[in-house]
Amino acid sequence: MGDKNRQEHARFDYENVAALQQIIKKTGVKIPVNTSYERLRESVSIGSGKAANRLSVLPMEGCDAKADGSPSSLTVRRYKRFAQGGAGLIWVEATAVVPAGKANPRQLILTKENLASFQSLAALIDQQAAVEPYKVLQLTHSGRYSRPVDKPAPQVAGRSQYLDKPGLQYDVLADEELDSLIPAYVKSAKLAQLAGFNAVDIKACHGYLISELLGARYREGRYGGSFENRTRFLLNIVDAVRQAVDIDIAVRLNAYDELPHPYGWGVRAEDCRQPDWNEMTSLLKLLEKKGVTLVNLTGGNPYYNPHVNRPYDSGPYKPPFHQLIHAEKLFKAAMHAKQAVPGLCVMATGFSWFRDLALPVAAGLIERNWCDLVGFGRQAFAYPDFAKAMLSGHFDKNKCCIACGKCSEIMRDGGCSGCVVFDREIYQPIYREGRAGKPPIASLEIKEHV
Ligand SMILES: Cc1cc2nc3c(=O)[nH]c(=O)nc-3n(C[C@H](O)[C@H](O)[C@H](O)COP(=O)(O)O)c2cc1C
Repeated sequence: MGDKNRQEHARFDYENVAALQQIIKKTGVKIPVNTSYERLRESVSIGSGKAANRLSVLPMEGCDAKADGSPSSLTVRRYKRFAQGGAGLIWVEATAVVPAGKANPRQLILTKENLASFQSLAALIDQQAAVEPYKVLQLTHSGRYSRPVDKPAPQVAGRSQYLDKPGLQYDVLADEELDSLIPAYVKSAKLAQLAGFNAVDIKACHGYLISELLGARYREGRYGGSFENRTRFLLNIVDAVRQAVDIDIAVRLNAYDELPHPYGWGVRAEDCRQPDWNEMTSLLKLLEKKGVTLVNLTGGNPYYNPHVNRPYDSGPYKPPFHQLIHAEKLFKAAMHAKQAVPGLCVMATGFSWFRDLALPVAAGLIERNWCDLVGFGRQAFAYPDFAKAMLSGHFDKNKCCIACGKCSEIMRDGGCSGCVVFDREIYQPIYREGRAGKPPIASLEIKEHV
């Protein structure tokens, strides 16, 4: 979805909670709303730690690491702002477990050699924090979306008529190659523990390697076909990390891919827009047994159907349904997860598009016990202080993310991502260069920003 066309197809214009409730009713969705926000202030136990409140920063890649994979000054600036913003949990962005699995040349990667820089990042988050946050590091292999140097180098679970791009060479990973990646997750988890993170996330969403394997019904061998085979890679990684490292384990999981059969995880064969919640809940039960303590439910594939995961007001195409319908599905994923595995700490996704009215929606979900935590992605780029502002009753709707999609466009153009609208000084020039088709900002000299 890297095309340059943008469609301004809708605008969020619900003045107040009553207007939102009206449109919720009209659209026929079931999204709970509550105007008492007290419960968002509650702390939440997670594994061996706790989140100081129920508001969280989702993993948001800045594509601005140094060449050795360590955080640059721009990366550090982002987490300093997030920490100061007062969220109870900070989920640090995609961090590759091997160089070949980087989604872009500037993706973070944690190694023995750069461990000190990640220790400093974790320490800085603690020092700067308005409240002591629970810190998760997301571990990833980008699979089909690997682009470790300057051009795509996909490593896939299998070929796909929907996702393969003409002219690209696709390397289908053999079972033995997948086996050999498991130690890389363990090594990264050990380093994350030494760096001071509370948890590692074994990322299993958005079409990246583990996520693609979950839907690999068409694949032969130990990692494809049956539910047992498709979930084996993720479960083996969890086992291996659990045995070797004393750190909490989280999983950011696609609840559904919305990819047509025989591709796609968590979808009905006859209509991929209809979730099959059984796949997700069966897997969550296994993950809990294996000691996973935190999950965040998400969906879709940002390269194929970005509206699924991030409801937007303007973007590369007009989403098939009202954003509320897509948001409801994300929230229901959390609800089904919480119902099926009440002991797991469940975080919901899908709030940024609601702007200031995310607050009553978040409070509604918490009140109904649909989730324990609520995660914000683009809102954190636009308004890093969102949590402090929400909890203090001083939320400024004029500082909200407007779901314009520009942070995604920067990423697709090869630049460093951030908020073009509210962090303009830094990100507008990067955005403009990318749109003008100038060489990717991967070569950009990142200035001292801290
Ligand atoms: C620029 C950008 C970078 C992202 N980076 C990551 C990432 O590193 N890991 C991940 O799991 N999701 C990533 N996401 C997805 C977000 O975490 C989140 O799921 C999505 O933006 C929807 O939440 P929101 O509506 O609160 O923005 C990214 C999204 C954007 C727009």
